[in-house]
Amino acid sequence: MPCTVIVGGFWGDEGKGKIISYLALKDKVDFCVRTGSVNAAHTIWHQGKRYALHMVPGGFVNENCRLLIASGANVHVGQFLKEVEETNVKKRIGVDNQASIIEEKHSTQDKTNAHLKGIGTTGWGVGPAIEERVRRTARLARDVPELKPYLADVSAEINEGIKMKKTVLLEGTQGVFLSLFHGTYPYVTGRDTSASAVCSEVGVGPTSIDDVLLVLKSFMTRVGAGPLPGEITKEEAMKRGWFETASGTGRDRRAAPFSFELAKRSVMINGATEIALTKLDAIFPEVKGARNFEKLPEEAKQFVVKVEKETGIRVNLIGTGPDAFDVTDRRK
Ligand code: IMP
Ligand code: MG
Repeated sequence: MPCTVIVGGFWGDEGKGKIISYLALKDKVDFCVRTGSVNAAHTIWHQGKRYALHMVPGGFVNENCRLLIASGANVHVGQFLKEVEETNVKKRIGVDNQASIIEEKHSTQDKTNAHLKGIGTTGWGVGPAIEERVRRTARLARDVPELKPYLADVSAEINEGIKMKKTVLLEGTQGVFLSLFHGTYPYVTGRDTSASAVCSEVGVGPTSIDDVLLVLKSFMTRVGAGPLPGEITKEEAMKRGWFETASGTGRDRRAAPFSFELAKRSVMINGATEIALTKLDAIFPEVKGARNFEKLPEEAKQFVVKVEKETGIRVNLIGTGPDAFDVTDRRK
């Protein structure tokens, strides 16, 4: 653990939020840093309540966890303030001075641009906001009076934490096949979503990372346009219990069976050292809520073993339900 990067292995919505909430509580994580932007929603069930977090790091469920938003991130001020209120984390959340700001005009540009419409963006305006940052005309967190009480030097705090042997989670967003560099271009998001990019957004060097935890869902989903190998129809997805809607935009998620080939590629690009396999209960309903690997049905175990064989990486965590503790933890 000490410093772990958590990233999505497919097209986002793999269940990173749930795995983060589990680790935050179970491993008593000291720091959780959010990267990316408001387009990504991380779903977390906490004390019977569902949260779809676009800004606040998933580690909020642990009351002792310091929460930070990286300098490479893109902050939506209204959404940030709303979630800070909702999760009651005012006293322990910080935003890097240099994080850029995403504004209403970016959302309008996103929604009215025919090319972006064809890609099926979330409409939050992340692409246009990043364009503006690259042009060096973006507003930064330090320019916003409402953010004054939260301003922090995130890379300094995190690197100091790592030095003090604190437990750190760097929270990636989306999945590697939505990466601007490694994904299915042009059907991608506006940034690199791989593990290295997460480190870069936070300001932590690759030599400080102990683990890269790759989150793979037991079947694949994608929202918006672009290729999805092995895609099944909506009717078929419903029949199999794989039909989902996006937690952020409410759109239908397209679905396909798990691809070992893509999982392998994802492990490669991210340099994964461990895998979290989520929603195993969606393909094997009998495993719902299971917390003990040995007690899983033989078929389910075989699927897990096949993921390990094909990727060469151990499946350390298995998601068996929406609650933070619906996990089979196979770590030593
Ligand atoms: P954008 O990130 O809003 O520009 O959208 C670009 C593509 O990434 C679209 O296909 C979106 O549906 C997809 N996308 C963006 N954020 C997420 C996410 O958090 N989960 C899943 N797909 C996403
Ligand atoms: Mg999501």
